[in-house]
Amino acid sequence: MENYELLLKKYNQEHLLKYIEMTDKKEELIKQIEKINFEQLQDLYSVSKRDNEKAIKGIIIEHVPFVDKYKLDAEKSNNLQTLGEEVIKNGKYAVVTMAGGQGTRLGHDGPKGTFKLNVKPRPKYLFEILAENLQRENEKYNIVIPWYIMTSTENNAKTVSFFEENNYFGYPKDNVTFFNQGNLPLLSEDGKLMVDENYNIKVASDGNGSIYKSMKNEGILLDMKKRGVEWIFIGAVDNAILNMCDPMLLGLTIKDKNEIASKSVVKANPHEKVGVFCKKDSKPAVIEYTELPTEMAEETDEEGELLFGESHIMCNLYSIEALEKIAEQNLPYHSAHKKANYLDENGNLVKSEEPNSYKYEAFIFDGFNYFDNISILRGRREEDFAPIKNKEGVDSPETAIELYNNYWKL
Ligand code: UD1
Repeated sequence: MENYELLLKKYNQEHLLKYIEMTDKKEELIKQIEKINFEQLQDLYSVSKRDNEKAIKGIIIEHVPFVDKYKLDAEKSNNLQTLGEEVIKNGKYAVVTMAGGQGTRLGHDGPKGTFKLNVKPRPKYLFEILAENLQRENEKYNIVIPWYIMTSTENNAKTVSFFEENNYFGYPKDNVTFFNQGNLPLLSEDGKLMVDENYNIKVASDGNGSIYKSMKNEGILLDMKKRGVEWIFIGAVDNAILNMCDPMLLGLTIKDKNEIASKSVVKANPHEKVGVFCKKDSKPAVIEYTELPTEMAEETDEEGELLFGESHIMCNLYSIEALEKIAEQNLPYHSAHKKANYLDENGNLVKSEEPNSYKYEAFIFDGFNYFDNISILRGRREEDFAPIKNKEGVDSPETAIELYNNYWKL
């Protein structure tokens, strides 16, 4: 028996033999099968049916301390600012943008960073907004910040050619590096691998938490070290006023002698779709909105403030050693129940109207768990957070445009 046949038999995936028979691209399908980590598939499937709201059952959840940027006195602010600026000025700071996501929820066909926002004085792509913001910092400090962009295998080629076509929006090209995140197979509700209309195993991006291993495996951490980078900011592609270079955040982290840090804003309402900071079994953590039980989301303290109200706005800072440390760990996977089209065993394409598969993702903030403390700097929504998630309504292009125009006083 061939190797792949043995594997499929051992791991209860023999249905794939039928697809191998059916397709004239046998070799490709077999190659894909042989690359699958079947042991891992079993672990993944075991989290599929977990009730998300029970994900934190049995864990001690506590409030996590934070510093409010706007409640510091002038002397403290200046000291933190100076501490942070020293690092940036000396070229020890790099920025990473996570751009593995597609603009699907926005109804945009393409990498999310290629979405154009109708801001003043002229419409700009999300990537363009980020490039401009970083250029401003470069000019302020008379440096060039190395900029790393994480793409997915699905959108890498499109992202790179988009930058080429737009001449990197004026950003010094030698300082822009793209790298790919990984993929994981989707599983059907009964734990089977699925096949798409081109006879490929159905896979999807493995979540933004795979960034740590990807940075290590794709040589990004090494490149940073060669450039003398000591502190790294990791942010999202979908925040129109993301401040990627806040010396105060850096200063606070250095003063606290911490290795990881994050910016937060107060949650807009108990059910806003953001993760919230906390301590899980005494380690820094974020509970994702999909996993936060309703009662906890609504819990308040004596002053009526939400107990879990510090939002994770994907504005994270790490020392290079912290990134190296997390890259050695295996982050847990979270599952999402999703609709997926697939080929049935007669070779017919099935378009599902209902969720019929599980997608597995690692979450970036699960990397915080490997540290005793985190510095959290509370900023202000109007200065830090203009997310673009939905086509209309909350966190839509419309709300982000308003926040952007107000921030830049346009
Ligand atoms: C994310 C955060 C949430 C936070 C919110 C703020 C996670 C798991 N959740 O939620 O805690 O409050 O943003 O806006 O991080 N991305 C990749 N590869 C992937 C998946 C995502 O690069 O496989 C990137 C996206 O391009 C984007 C960012 O990660 O830049 C956020 O991803 P998204 O899936 O939109 O996260 P949210 O559900 O909004």
